[in-house]
Amino acid sequence: MIIVNEKEHVFHLRNERISYLLYIMESGQPGHLYFGKALQPGGSYLHMVEKAHRPMSTYIKEGDLYTSYEHLRQEYPCYGTSDYRYPAMEILGRDGSRICKPQYQGYAVIHGKKPLPGLPATYTEEEGEADTLEIYMNDPLRDLEFILSYTIFRDVDALARSVSFINRGNEVLFLNRAMSLSLDMPDMDYQTVQLSGSWARERAVRIRDLEPGITAICSMRGNSSHQHNPFLALKRKNTNEQSGDVFGFSLLYSGNFLAQAEADNYQVLRIMLGINPFGFQWKLEPGETFVTPEAVMVYSAEGLNGMSRQFHRLFRNRLVRGYWRDRERPVLINNWEATQFDYTQQDLLQFAEKAKECGIELFVLDDGWFGARNDDRRGLGDWRANREKLPEGIEGLAQKIEALGMKFGLWFEPEMVNKDSDLFRAHPDYIIRTPGRTASHGRNQFVLDFSRKEVVDAIYRQLYELLSNASISYIKWDMNRSISECYSAAYPADRQGEIFHRYILGVYDLHERLIRDFPQLLIESCASGGGRFDAGMLYYAPQGWVSDDTDAIERTKIQYGTSFVYPLSSMGAHVSACPNEQIGRTTSIATRGNAALTGAFGYELDLNKLSEEEIRTVKKQVAFYKENRSLLAQGDFYRLLSPFEGNFAAWEICQPDGSRALVTVTRILSEVNGPYRRLPLRGLLPDQSYHIQSPHLSYDAYGDELMQFGLMLEDRSAGQVTDGGDTCHDFCSLLYEITAIQTV
Ligand code: DGJ
Repeated sequence: MIIVNEKEHVFHLRNERISYLLYIMESGQPGHLYFGKALQPGGSYLHMVEKAHRPMSTYIKEGDLYTSYEHLRQEYPCYGTSDYRYPAMEILGRDGSRICKPQYQGYAVIHGKKPLPGLPATYTEEEGEADTLEIYMNDPLRDLEFILSYTIFRDVDALARSVSFINRGNEVLFLNRAMSLSLDMPDMDYQTVQLSGSWARERAVRIRDLEPGITAICSMRGNSSHQHNPFLALKRKNTNEQSGDVFGFSLLYSGNFLAQAEADNYQVLRIMLGINPFGFQWKLEPGETFVTPEAVMVYSAEGLNGMSRQFHRLFRNRLVRGYWRDRERPVLINNWEATQFDYTQQDLLQFAEKAKECGIELFVLDDGWFGARNDDRRGLGDWRANREKLPEGIEGLAQKIEALGMKFGLWFEPEMVNKDSDLFRAHPDYIIRTPGRTASHGRNQFVLDFSRKEVVDAIYRQLYELLSNASISYIKWDMNRSISECYSAAYPADRQGEIFHRYILGVYDLHERLIRDFPQLLIESCASGGGRFDAGMLYYAPQGWVSDDTDAIERTKIQYGTSFVYPLSSMGAHVSACPNEQIGRTTSIATRGNAALTGAFGYELDLNKLSEEEIRTVKKQVAFYKENRSLLAQGDFYRLLSPFEGNFAAWEICQPDGSRALVTVTRILSEVNGPYRRLPLRGLLPDQSYHIQSPHLSYDAYGDELMQFGLMLEDRSAGQVTDGGDTCHDFCSLLYEITAIQTV
């Protein structure tokens, strides 16, 4: 998959569908040629380099009025080289200079892919599924070595990139900026797509036209954030969900990030993705190495849906790892919205018994089970059972739940501490704070300094003891505030710029230790809902709590946006009580079920409070999920109607062989006497006959009809209501089953 033209120093990374081309310029810097649909494997591509004499430019060589880095598309640009755009890196030497001129030294082609030490990364399993190109560079003045690493995958239209910096000299260097990816696109005729929002309304799809200058999103909060997801896409103006060019960029990282598009005076577009340079500075001692987080870039000619399917395939199969990667996820019930902090062991057991009766497989005890935790002002850091609530401890409760025939799961917030806790009383110095300044709190809690190994060790010991003594199959790892006043008492002044990154490395380290010790443990990540829902976390936690907003209609939007990058199997989605706790809206149990069924499914309410009819529906939903969960987890996902654009949301999950599909259609507000509607489906076999089944509809049709004419939507409000109105109300959602008819 990697073709090297030794004579021209051109490297062509290629699978059947995509090509990425780079070359080494005469000056020794790596230049960019092309990224997109696959190009012919042979051929010379150097004529794609565009340069001309342009007044007011700065040129790299005296006597040469053509070669300016301001004009040249580059692979990993640096400042001080005649390029005036934002660089991919900035290295500060002891002499105060920030200029760097790395020179090409050589390359290697590696079959497969190396892991990144301490960081999440995509991986390979079988021979031949990916190849990696390493380009070796060196800045002779500083003796700083760079390795640019590019992996191309055979079966996914994606490349993974990262950069290593190795200080081979005798002088201390500081990395002020070290992006994971830089890409110079030849034109700026794109729109950017970002996933932005806030707590409880995460990952709304926002599209912006590019103008000259900077378009950027970032986090400076220490977590990837509710506000912006570490993802950016470029699409042409006429690209839609199903067709057209899209380039998607995702950072496998859970801390501060920057995703930036800079359109320059020649309308070249520079994409950057990596650790946010704000507040970042890494001291590189002689002999030390710094490795950036990994960035994944995807190209699709099949619109935004095509991009998402590539991300889903790669992340589901080669980022998520371990015991749970290919296993069916348990249907769970979580007590948080039903009880908050206020429960007894007896309440929990009654709760679990009803859940068991409905077919639910995993009982999750949320916040409030430890220390003196009867509200959010105390207890965090003391990971021992609160014996007033749980007289038999976690061991006793877990045993009782297992005796009911369910698995047991437990909530933790490992990175946090309340001042009213034994941990804080013993170690007040363990929190992140700047000496002499107030330490802000969030939800009455403070952030433990996970940049320090002894702090991570202290939490690890407590978690290890609990997990070894009680039968715990699942943990929900929460994180309910961001970092402000970032500073660590354990590091000297010239290493304070490392703390945000070291903190995330500490979080990854604790995850890694738990996975090593308890390989069958299912971890669900959470950060006040979706405040750290990123590809980095997926490496450790195969599923994440999408949002604290559990309203089915809001969830339709949040899950729609989340699906741009993340597979359905990663989206924790629960049916909760009505009126909804966050928004006060009442929706039917069917609508709530339909929203949650297309995620890692569960419930978040007291089933004892439901009517008998609702319980019958719950039992049907649980049975339906179990029957369909492999399709829901592994199927190809297609967004069909956007809740951001109209009154409907619709999506389809289709078996990759086209044998079965599920379609969810949610009409947000009811309407009277509206038009007849059809919904063209995707991914079916044109000449295959299918049976279509929904609560009120049953007919047979060929795949071509369903994809061209469309699925006939039943809309009882279009005309006179004759069925008692069960689909004639606001927030109505229907699920259609499309099943291939077997012919003998
Ligand atoms: C925030 C989470 O998102 C909720 O689901 C719940 O676990 C609470 N924290 C508990 O404090």
